[in-house]
Amino acid sequence: MKVLVVGGGGREHAICTVIKKSKRLTKLYCAPGNAGIASIAECVDIGAMEFDKLVDFAKKESIDLCVVGMDDPLVGGLVDRMEEAGIKTFGPRANAAILEGSKAFSKDLMKKYNIPTAAYENFDSYDEAVEYIKASKMPIVLKADGLALGKGVLICNTYEEALAGAKEIMLDKKFGAAGSRMVVEEFMTGREVSVLSFVDGNTIKIMTSAQDHKRAGDGDTGLNTGGMGTFSPSPFYTEEVDAFCKKYIYQATVDAMKAEGREFKGVIFFGLMLTQDGPKVLEYNARFGDPEAQVVLVRLKNDIIDVFEACVDGTLDKIDLEFEDNAAVCVVLASDGYPVAYEKGKLIGGLEHFEGQSDYFCFHAGTKLSSEGIVTNGGRVLGITAKGSNLKEARANAYKATEWVTFDNKYMRHDIGKAIDEA
Ligand code: AMP
Ligand code: GLY
Repeated sequence: MKVLVVGGGGREHAICTVIKKSKRLTKLYCAPGNAGIASIAECVDIGAMEFDKLVDFAKKESIDLCVVGMDDPLVGGLVDRMEEAGIKTFGPRANAAILEGSKAFSKDLMKKYNIPTAAYENFDSYDEAVEYIKASKMPIVLKADGLALGKGVLICNTYEEALAGAKEIMLDKKFGAAGSRMVVEEFMTGREVSVLSFVDGNTIKIMTSAQDHKRAGDGDTGLNTGGMGTFSPSPFYTEEVDAFCKKYIYQATVDAMKAEGREFKGVIFFGLMLTQDGPKVLEYNARFGDPEAQVVLVRLKNDIIDVFEACVDGTLDKIDLEFEDNAAVCVVLASDGYPVAYEKGKLIGGLEHFEGQSDYFCFHAGTKLSSEGIVTNGGRVLGITAKGSNLKEARANAYKATEWVTFDNKYMRHDIGKAIDEA
């Protein structure tokens, strides 16, 4: 089976790594890929938004299965384009990827189908948003409607902050067109858990849980990032939480999408907050999380090609999804200064330590091959991932492996998975 993965970050490196284990694979391509992916797949120099070129390539190479990892091409309709060309493709069509592509849409969906989430209002008008904010309790949460690289969410503690935030999003368009509409939402407190799932339009199968660390600094300080590290499973995702979510959230979301004529096939990522009043949905994503995929997929026991195909074919009910009874931790090595300003092009040493290892993984996020060797090429550079028989062991292993890697301006958080100690 010839497979094409679309994307070029740590998530896609993890996806390629598990696809590579499949006995059914004959050839793996990744567009555009990165320096790490290049060691296990043939990287194709086509960007994830170059739909015409991607479709032409898939036809020319007779690709049997295309897997779209990233949100932008999903929301932009790459799956629709591939399907029109007769290429079997894993991921939601554009009309379903809107679950992530529009926060206003997803909030309205949850309200209509009684799926637990924070109270909110959507606004197209800045003046009306301001009136609403003035009448609301603080803190309050403002969200740009569209895709904003995970950065379009502002948590405002005072009226001044909230009014300045509304201006940034809706008038100054700090997050571009994503800010033409804005969701204003009740502030909730509680632990966050990420739950990824496979969906075939009707059936949903939940993967093992994970937890991200979004802030740049230790102790959850500093700016929001794409994610600085993850662990899986989350000890806070108890059987009770699982039972509640199965009853009120997971299947309800899949059924709601179907009822709206937006059948969802692919991965639904549930960003949950475990509040005093029970679990509530913070957000949906229409793809694997990054770096959640890194800790979840390395623990998957199934042949992932079987699972991808079952989602596309509508036969997921026949799949018994299984995960190893262990744990994994991913620590992101970033360039110092991320997410604001940082230098690139630093030579990376020590990557050879990961060769031939089965419990240690070095997933590349922002790297590039230069004439000197592999160099840094982004804010998030590598996702150092390790397994262990339990979370503590996985955490110790991951941090040990971070020491194998060297580059100037290497930065990481030192408390990924520390919450486990409190569990
Ligand atoms: P989102 O992209 O919607 O997941 O938001 C990014 C982050 O903002 C979440 O992971 C939460 O930490 C925080 N957040 C979002 N919505 C709320 C809310 N209603 N109350 C408290 N925190 C929130
Ligand atoms: N790690 C959060 C995300 O992928 O959106």
